[in-house]
Amino acid sequence: MEIKLHTISGHEQGSGPGQGGRGVELEAIEKSYRRWAPIYDATFGRITAMGRKRAVAEVNKGRGRILELGVGTGLSLPDYAPHLEVIGVDYSEDMLAIARRRVAELGLKHVVALARMDARALDFPDGFFDCVVAMYLVSVVPEPERVMAEIARVCKPGGQVIIVNHFAREKGPLAVIERMLAPLANVLGWHPDFDRIRILKEPSLRVVEVRPMAPLSLFTFLRLVKEPR
Ligand SMILES: C[S@@+](CC[C@H](N)C(=O)[O-])C[C@H]1O[C@@H](n2cnc3c(N)ncnc32)[C@H](O)[C@@H]1O
Repeated sequence: MEIKLHTISGHEQGSGPGQGGRGVELEAIEKSYRRWAPIYDATFGRITAMGRKRAVAEVNKGRGRILELGVGTGLSLPDYAPHLEVIGVDYSEDMLAIARRRVAELGLKHVVALARMDARALDFPDGFFDCVVAMYLVSVVPEPERVMAEIARVCKPGGQVIIVNHFAREKGPLAVIERMLAPLANVLGWHPDFDRIRILKEPSLRVVEVRPMAPLSLFTFLRLVKEPR
């Protein structure tokens, strides 16, 4: 299948005056992931490997067209089953460049497109995907509620949404550390005190599985189903 994607140049979405500062947020993401890109796989990418494996294993049980939102350097891409058609999108050109190289070097034929897009404004029709995956993305994006609305829109009725992320703890020493790190969100490139409730308000998405993930239950695996019409 050939998929033609209109991708953004960085000035087309939200970077102009009067756009509620969205351009500024996207610039911060670009800047942060420009720093992360060269070291990502050996650092954060390594700590988070287990969640990616778990999520992709779940996706591989299904069929059809898969969207990986915030695909980053494409660490997950070699693990998708060859019967799937995977499209990855990310806003950071630096992260995407590494993903593109990986796909070319490993000859990953099931990856049919990698495109630069803002997860809050996806250039796909309604109900285009059988499954949408977002790993370590929802606490990184500005306006996660809008991202969830877009996920719900592009997912087919009856389709699946898989999310893996770190969510804020309510108590204990880690909760204190998370609150202390919260003001550094722009430097870190993610929000350490991110509350799970922010992504669970989408009326058409029903949570069917919640599972703590290694290491140390630091991350959570969530499986949601888009309600059939
Ligand atoms: C922590 S990384 C996770 C990458 C990958 N999912 C993984 O598991 O390794 C977060 C990714 O989200 C991307 N991102 C952040 N905001 C975005 C947005 N608004 N639209 C698309 N991608 C975004 C970043 O560029 C980065 O590649």
